[in-house]
Amino acid sequence: MKEIDFTGKVAVVTGAASGMGLMTSHEFARRGAKVIMCDLDEARLRQEVEELKSGGLGELSGQVVPCAGDVRKFAYVEEAAKIATSLGGCDILVTCAGGNEARCCKSNVPFYEQPIDVIDWGLDVNLKGAVYFARALMPQMVAKKGGVICCLGSVTGFEGDGVGTMYGTAKSGLFNFVKGLALAGGPHNVRALCVTPGPVLTRAAMSGMPTALGRAGETHELVDVILFMCSDNASFVTGTNHVIDGGRLCMYQPYVTPKETAK
Ligand SMILES: NC(=O)c1ccc[n+]([C@@H]2O[C@H](COP(=O)([O-])OP(=O)(O)OC[C@H]3O[C@@H](n4cnc5c(N)ncnc54)[C@H](O)[C@@H]3O)[C@@H](O)[C@H]2O)c1
Repeated sequence: MKEIDFTGKVAVVTGAASGMGLMTSHEFARRGAKVIMCDLDEARLRQEVEELKSGGLGELSGQVVPCAGDVRKFAYVEEAAKIATSLGGCDILVTCAGGNEARCCKSNVPFYEQPIDVIDWGLDVNLKGAVYFARALMPQMVAKKGGVICCLGSVTGFEGDGVGTMYGTAKSGLFNFVKGLALAGGPHNVRALCVTPGPVLTRAAMSGMPTALGRAGETHELVDVILFMCSDNASFVTGTNHVIDGGRLCMYQPYVTPKETAK
């Protein structure tokens, strides 16, 4: 396997002020990429970018550029795309901005009581945000005759959620979205895929979610996969969904005993 190196690449990461988006941005820049870090939380984004620049999380050989705004606004997404153009054109897009609307909008009621603005938030941030970024940046990848779009899914996209119902709906939408992108991008060597986490310790609360391994994932256990998928080592991977969940989804299979199999 080739050493993972992103020297000369331009990467755009959404949800870059926190969790997997932040660590992915850092790892891209550590491996030589120019990274446009996009997030709604401007104060936190600036603070994290300053920390990265000062070597607080480890030396960078690349560069990081903050771009604060809301993934639901296409005008903002176009701004991020303009920065990518000025740096030489986007090679890699990772969409991490997202979250369960019930948690993020503090609306812990069943779907049939959810206010419409909460429903809109769930769909727009988790699905439309990724769609907008891909739409704005894919032309740059096509022009460069290569690129990769990596969308963060969730096991909720398989499981469903009666409270944050749009979260699972949007995430399963991404599973199909990357297939369309793979078909449109294939002739231009543009790949698209989902990396779909089970519980990850970007928040302590995730430690309580059951998995076959009996623990939640560490942030780097997901980021390592994202880096691989965005590298040339994954050059034949496109249109697919890669579940990294410590075996959480296996736990929903009915257990068939050897005796029953023999019948
Ligand atoms: N952490 C987990 O256990 C887990 C599990 C499954 C899937 N995921 C998915 O992985 C991705 C990353 O998860 P994480 O836990 O690292 O995220 P996180 O919650 O740590 O960070 C999400 C970031 O998205 C930003 N954001 C929210 N709304 C935005 C908007 N409208 N515009 C721009 N930025 C916005 C937030 O400010 C935040 O910095 C998310 O899409 C999440 O749904 C996470």
